[in-house]
Amino acid sequence: MSTTTHAMRANAPRTHDARTHRRDARCGAKKAARKAAGAKKPGGGGVALSSDEPSSASATATAMTVAAPACLLERKPRDDHDDVVIPYGNASGAALRMTEVMLSVADTDLLSEANMEVMPGQVVGLVGGNGCGKSTLIKCIAGKRSVQDGTIAISPDLEVGYFEQTAVSGSQLTVYQEARARMDRINAAEAALKAAEQACESSDDVEACRGADILMDCLAEMEASGAYEAEKRIANVLDGLGFARSQWDVKCDDLSGGWQMRVALARLLLSPAGSGDKGLLLLDEPTNHLDEAAKRWLANWIKESPCTTLIISHEAELLNSACSHIAEVRGKAVHWYTGNFDKFLVDRDERIRIAKATYEKQQAEEADLKDFIRRFSANASKSTQAQSRAKLLEKLQKEMRKTVAAASATVSEGAAGDASRMHLQLAKPPPSDMIQLTLKDGVIGYDPATPILEGSIVLERGMRVVVLGPNGAGKSSLLKSISGQMPLIGGERILGDRVSLGVFGQDLAQYLPKESTCIQYVLDVARVDDPLMKDEMGRQALGALGITGPMALRKIGSLSGGEKARVALAAFVLQPRNCLLLDEPSNHLDVGAVQALTDGLQGWDGCLFAVSHNKGFCESLNPTHIIRVKNGKITMENCYGLTDDDFEHEVIVGDATAAAAAAAGAAAEEAVEEKELVTA
Ligand SMILES: Nc1ncnc2c1ncn2[C@@H]1O[C@H](COP(=O)(O)OP(=O)(O)OP(=O)(O)O)[C@@H](O)[C@H]1O
Ligand SMILES: [Mg+2]
Repeated sequence: MSTTTHAMRANAPRTHDARTHRRDARCGAKKAARKAAGAKKPGGGGVALSSDEPSSASATATAMTVAAPACLLERKPRDDHDDVVIPYGNASGAALRMTEVMLSVADTDLLSEANMEVMPGQVVGLVGGNGCGKSTLIKCIAGKRSVQDGTIAISPDLEVGYFEQTAVSGSQLTVYQEARARMDRINAAEAALKAAEQACESSDDVEACRGADILMDCLAEMEASGAYEAEKRIANVLDGLGFARSQWDVKCDDLSGGWQMRVALARLLLSPAGSGDKGLLLLDEPTNHLDEAAKRWLANWIKESPCTTLIISHEAELLNSACSHIAEVRGKAVHWYTGNFDKFLVDRDERIRIAKATYEKQQAEEADLKDFIRRFSANASKSTQAQSRAKLLEKLQKEMRKTVAAASATVSEGAAGDASRMHLQLAKPPPSDMIQLTLKDGVIGYDPATPILEGSIVLERGMRVVVLGPNGAGKSSLLKSISGQMPLIGGERILGDRVSLGVFGQDLAQYLPKESTCIQYVLDVARVDDPLMKDEMGRQALGALGITGPMALRKIGSLSGGEKARVALAAFVLQPRNCLLLDEPSNHLDVGAVQALTDGLQGWDGCLFAVSHNKGFCESLNPTHIIRVKNGKITMENCYGLTDDDFEHEVIVGDATAAAAAAAGAAAEEAVEEKELVTA
């Protein structure tokens, strides 16, 4: 569908024709004039019922049952999930209030007596290590599961929108249709207007007068709902999230998981929950599949939006630029900080220092109390004092639990997220040719008539290459082509002698076998190379990433997003490879796990080829070379440092050639991913 069609699609009101005007006149001009005062758009001629017609009130009511303007519809809180009961309640002036919440999964307590108050308009970053309970908590707030104790109350006048960490729609609608699917008020206003216009066209005069009577209301509602700005808003969001115009008509189901997530995000931002100060957005790692420019756009959008927003993220940049407050899940409590992420890091250190000092004092106090109780509880004259000291002790111990929560810098022992415990060691690269891989006059793409990329590259042992380029330009296709997953259209791919490739894909974690246990999966993968590998090796690799003890025996399906990514990574690092091809490996991982990965990669001396939108991650790889993928060409150069410009969007909206090339690239990438999924 063309851009022009989209521009026309707002069902703009048709200008009244002569026939309509005659009918308007017949129906009476007085009421029309009164109503017209409120309408601005062409075609907004007023209408009224003549005295021999039913009263305007009843006529309007009758017509409304056919197609009521949204302003007259009762607002019903909606969510995209059927099994949702949003915990609306008395939030005492806050947008969201959590009181003494206790939350557990299986036999693990994630939160105990946790409190949080989010005021209207605040943008709160919900942070914490992998597996500390962020997604579980936000699910409770979104009404998808319930807490064990305590209350969550969302102000009843808020529209709640929830973006899940692994939301994939599988919708048959196009990108554009999905994007506007939840613009409820505008869609209702347009439907009402259409119905009114059809009624006006009726040969039945009574029906026509009824249509004409509600037409003004409908036009006013079009104005009030922002229907005339809808296309602009949709374009802003879709452009911002990196969709080329030619992608707007692609069916969502034909997109990869990553792009479907973007569609879901676009739809949410355009929904009532994202459209004003009555919105409450709950976003669980929304940037996992966004490039740097889209991330920046989203951060800015959130910052500018009047919505109250709770956003889970491991990305310091997003949390810094968008958030007014940080809520950290740590030590089974939620710790509240004013300011952005950098300020939080400083304030947290200070709080931990104070909490440790307080704890020492409390321990001394506790010892005194215990001593007194032990000595005097059997003493008749002092037993009353001993009893009151026992009460004091109980109170003190409750306080001490809070102090411990405030003082613990990491999550509970042995759980994922404890960065200090992670030491990732990659299997040593086996000996091989100096030249690892050559792409000679490579032509990459699906359709030989419209290749996505052309060029040559040579990867040598010791090279550390980052691949940069705009969204959809073909970076993942390049990776898939050199890895042999995707056949070349032209040219040659030559693998060096004894070179074995290791591929860590963008969404690998998402497609792990849910029913396998962590240890089983890791061993299954590792034993393809080394059938004699001992269980202990698998445990060590998992343990190095914080998956220790009973957690290693858990089914993958029950893990958090970051824990799944760690399992995939553990299996990956156990396989001895000369040349590693990484596609967005830092998705889902918390700061500690990303650090463990980059530390591991820094000490590894094979050949590294990485596609990542994360500037910090790319920098920490100490790249020796950059491959640029742009305007259909692959070029390679030495790297002397990375700049912000290297991570900018380069698809200019409106630049048909660039957009088409980008779209072709993106579509081909989707197709590859779809194929892989089918064959997996
Ligand atoms: N059905 C289950 N059985 C046992 N444990 C579970 C189950 N579901 C979740 N968990 C555990 O609960 C913990 C919290 O999971 P959650 O998804 O809330 O973490 P998270 O903070 O969002 O982590 P991440 O940053 O990795 O996304 C994790 O350790 C997870 O493994
Ligand atoms: Mg999560």
